Amino acid sequence: MPAAALDLKQAIRDLKKERNAVILAHNYQTGDIQDLADYVGDSLGLAYHAKETDADVIVFCGVHFMAETAKIVNPSKIVVLPDKDAGCSLEQSCPGPELEAFLKANADKNYYVIAYINCSAHVKALCDVICTSGNAVKIVNKAPADRPILFVPDENLGAWVMEQTGRKMDLWKGNCYVHVEFTRESIRRIKEEHPGALVVAHPECTQAVRLLADEVCSTEKMVTFCRNAPVKDIIVVTESGMLHRLRKECPDKNLIAGPTDRCACADCRYMKMNTLEKLHSCLEKLEPRVELPEDIRSRAELPLLRMLEQSR
Ligand code: 13P
Ligand code: SF4
Repeated sequence: MPAAALDLKQAIRDLKKERNAVILAHNYQTGDIQDLADYVGDSLGLAYHAKETDADVIVFCGVHFMAETAKIVNPSKIVVLPDKDAGCSLEQSCPGPELEAFLKANADKNYYVIAYINCSAHVKALCDVICTSGNAVKIVNKAPADRPILFVPDENLGAWVMEQTGRKMDLWKGNCYVHVEFTRESIRRIKEEHPGALVVAHPECTQAVRLLADEVCSTEKMVTFCRNAPVKDIIVVTESGMLHRLRKECPDKNLIAGPTDRCACADCRYMKMNTLEKLHSCLEKLEPRVELPEDIRSRAELPLLRMLEQSR
């Protein structure tokens, strides 16, 4: 490794100590960022860690809604992220004012609103409970039986949860631009190249792809699935960063990136906006910071705390 990269990594470690900071990283971050993090995980594990940390500063290496979630559940901490423009297509597909207008126009339905955590604080503030891919089935199973459910913003995760729970829900028409790139054809082709391989896919994939999978689960559960799989070859149908985590945790497995029709693997351009240089800069300057109006934060906190409580 070039000396400059080594120096940068050491400088990040030193600054982290100086600031009494914790680095939380999502499974889709680049390998160098994952390797520097104190905790690497899925949205659910990251939310628990953000809530429970006693560090003064949370450095969130993921996308903006994840850092925002950390601030909502732990408002006394300084929360910074390497790139404030690291968004998410799911968050963008459900703007707060649009959901607010929809709920007003459909007030007679008395919806119980469940929001996938990939949404803005404004949207969270309008919901009854939040879920992640790791607990969505549990959360939906705990929803009041006498109220119709509106599930926002991911129609694919929503459809998968309906299949798992048998509970009918009205689905917001949003999706993850990365996971809908996997197709039945692209996954069939890679399966043919690796006969005997198992397939694990994220529930943000379309039904056509989920049907080809042996397991559909959150990124964290993929680690357990791969570790315990009785075969060596596993095709992993999610964002490419996951492969780094899996190769580290399951060195005896042959982990194969699920391809799309255009590429050998799928990158989330938002997750990949974070770099070591930006990580160093946000630790040094304590900027960009996540700040939220208190009324939105406190309203968004309730459904998040309900989720953390219901998924224990
Ligand atoms: P996980 O919570 O399963 O890590 O998913 C987060 C995400 O953004 C998937 O695209
Ligand atoms: Fe959002 Fe998809 Fe990127 Fe996850 S992979 S952060 S859902 S755009």
